[in-house]
Amino acid sequence: MKNKILKIERDALAEIKKSQSSDTLEVLRVKYLGRKSELVAILRNLKDLSDSEKKDVGEKANEARIEIESQIKARELEIKNMEFKDMEEKERIDITYPGMKTEVGHLHPVTQTRYAIEEIFKSMGFLVVEDREIEDEFHNFNALNVPKDHPARDMQDTFWLKSGAVPRTQTSSVQIRFMEKNKPPFRIVSPGRVFRKEASDATHESDFHQIECLMVDEAGSITISSFKAVLHEFMKGLFGADVKVRLRPSYFPFVEPGFETDVSCPYCGEIGCRICKYSGWIELGGSGIVNQKVFTSVGFPEDKYEGFAFGFGLERMAMIKFGIDDIRLFHSGDLRFLEQF
Ligand code: FA5
Repeated sequence: MKNKILKIERDALAEIKKSQSSDTLEVLRVKYLGRKSELVAILRNLKDLSDSEKKDVGEKANEARIEIESQIKARELEIKNMEFKDMEEKERIDITYPGMKTEVGHLHPVTQTRYAIEEIFKSMGFLVVEDREIEDEFHNFNALNVPKDHPARDMQDTFWLKSGAVPRTQTSSVQIRFMEKNKPPFRIVSPGRVFRKEASDATHESDFHQIECLMVDEAGSITISSFKAVLHEFMKGLFGADVKVRLRPSYFPFVEPGFETDVSCPYCGEIGCRICKYSGWIELGGSGIVNQKVFTSVGFPEDKYEGFAFGFGLERMAMIKFGIDDIRLFHSGDLRFLEQF
């Protein structure tokens, strides 16, 4: 029996020495010390032996068990060290290697301009209102005093959906949407995307943005000078204290009187430069005193209210703000362009 124990111990120690991984070591632990191992069977059967044999065999078996256990522990440590060394080699990190720079993006120049404008209007007590991009004919045209076959529709030649819906051609549709739900007095601005069937060039896109403004109160309380004052505050906030505004008579069916709205060129101070096409002034968009027909189309009594409205191109203002000379750059997705702002 003692020889058998010696052989078990010898075999175990030899195999432990040869083992190369924690997994094989675990297999050996089960094989030599596990519940079904020969050594444990010997210890379990000691009771069947004579007293002197019991002591002798018991001692030897226990010694063998302790030795195997301690060799497994020792080998385990060696293997762990080997594995760590190996890992160190394979997963070496060079902490002196330059780090990967995280690219941080920023808002698109049109969005920056939009937010800047919103802040200016909020500071004057205006509410920022948004509404849908896909409109119906009534809100985009008819309610704004542009009935079917009106020549003003030609200027906003657009895409029509099979359902009869229309991707809005102007943010003026939001005037109607807002007045259907709210009674004067109110003052709102509404920025958003608009669409027109347009051949693109340096100043025109088929997909662009406008910002609409509408301020309405009892008749007699809002005049063209209130409009000019708000406009001037707005322009000063966006382009600086020296900027001037100019109104030129123009026609839009939803205002009476109507104006083209110009701002003095913030780059040359009216002398004339590349940005203002050497005229000293830059056109922002249309404006005017709200036509009573617009009020009656949303159910307001005629002549009870008065107000002003304007609709300016956001890209146009971003181009002036940042000195950009081609509107098509905004949609180009070209980082060399965008990173400049
Ligand atoms: C309008 O859209 C009117 N709704 C503006 C208005 C509102 C007048 C309220 C009166 C009262 P217009 O079509 O001119 O008007 O467009 C206004 C501005 O949008 C233009 O001056 C220009 O800055 C911008 N815009 C128009 N078409 C384009 C285009 N294709 N690409 C880029 N910007 C454009």
